Amino acid sequence: MVNSCPRGPVQPQHYNGPVTFAPRDRPAYFDHNATSPPDPRVVEAMVPWLGRAANASAVHAWGQAARDAVERARAEVAELLATEPAQVVLTGSATEANNTVLASCGRLAGHEGRIVVSAVEHPSVLRPAERLAADGMELVTAPCDGAGRVAAEALLAAAGTGTRLVALMLANNEVGTLQPVGRVAEVCRERGVPVLCDAVQAVGRLPVSPAALGVDYLTVSAHKLGGPQGVGALWIRRGAPLEPLLLGGRQERRRRAGTEPVAAVVGFGVAAALARTEGVARRSRCEALRSRLEAGVERLGGRVHAATAPRLPNTTHLAFPGVVAADLLIRLDLAGFAVSNGSACAAGATAPSHVLAAMGLEPREAAGSIRVSLGPGNDETEVDALLAALGRESAALGVRPAVEEVR
Ligand SMILES: Cc1ncc(COP(=O)(O)O)c(C=O)c1O
Repeated sequence: MVNSCPRGPVQPQHYNGPVTFAPRDRPAYFDHNATSPPDPRVVEAMVPWLGRAANASAVHAWGQAARDAVERARAEVAELLATEPAQVVLTGSATEANNTVLASCGRLAGHEGRIVVSAVEHPSVLRPAERLAADGMELVTAPCDGAGRVAAEALLAAAGTGTRLVALMLANNEVGTLQPVGRVAEVCRERGVPVLCDAVQAVGRLPVSPAALGVDYLTVSAHKLGGPQGVGALWIRRGAPLEPLLLGGRQERRRRAGTEPVAAVVGFGVAAALARTEGVARRSRCEALRSRLEAGVERLGGRVHAATAPRLPNTTHLAFPGVVAADLLIRLDLAGFAVSNGSACAAGATAPSHVLAAMGLEPREAAGSIRVSLGPGNDETEVDALLAALGRESAALGVRPAVEEVR
């Protein structure tokens, strides 16, 4: 079962400290922003390719079949993005796609000029931007408000003459806040400044068209939309320059060297097709489940961050007063619920997340925040079970419900 708890019966002795263990709860996965389990139809389509010789650059029949499969998948990804297949470069991940654009920009600019990034970008944008700064470029970070939203005008004020790239994500992975990418791209286009949009969390959850947004580069990850891990995509506006990051063979029209992982690419294509045909239904389902969850959290005395900002339909970021997220997370894990204390990439780090810090949350408040990210497999029973577990475990950690249960 895709959504069942991977460990089977939980072994409480793996954890330190007193914990409550509630094996009666139905296990449920609520960490789709970290990774979303592949749809069974995706797995089914991939399996034959795992057992086959499949180098899409080879001229023999095996190679041609692989090429055909790769191009069909690329066409599905392109259709999801309402674009042309030739504009889609398959990569090993969105991290690679983001790194490619930043490194390319640095090389093309001779490591001179300015890069503007938002404060809430994913580390796969921030770290390469810092490397460009170490190589001599000026790095400007545009702030966000208390809901994690970057003000377009403030960002644009920094993106004047000499700016070689602006990076603004479409939806934040931690809080889900949507960013004013269209407005920023419109002005940047007039100024001749290229824009990179990391659309990893939005693609498959909202309709995304890079051409309509007006950006120059847009990045996607298969495993956030029900596809496999190990494959992503970089969309490039026609005519936008790109220096490849990986050098070697002539794959991907010389824009990304390396044998295409055919099974993973096929899975990506199926996931993209499903996101296109089932996206609207998934979205309204997620929104309804999230409203149910957030109403329940507030009854329990919890607080929802960025609730009034435009957000992804599947993401909720919440806190219970006085509760350390790591404690709540472990208790929920033992009860069979997967949630996150922020971005998976920052999990395990002791410093507060850079996103919550940019939103102005005090370190104490940031350390108390958890992210629940829903996906197509979740249902009302699971949400109600999570609410019951949140009530029980937050009460064990000293939280009093806002609304006492009527007995
Ligand atoms: C917003 C965002 N960008 C980029 C990435 C990196 O994606 P990948 O796992 O494909 O490298 C993630 C993954 O968490 C993400 O949330």
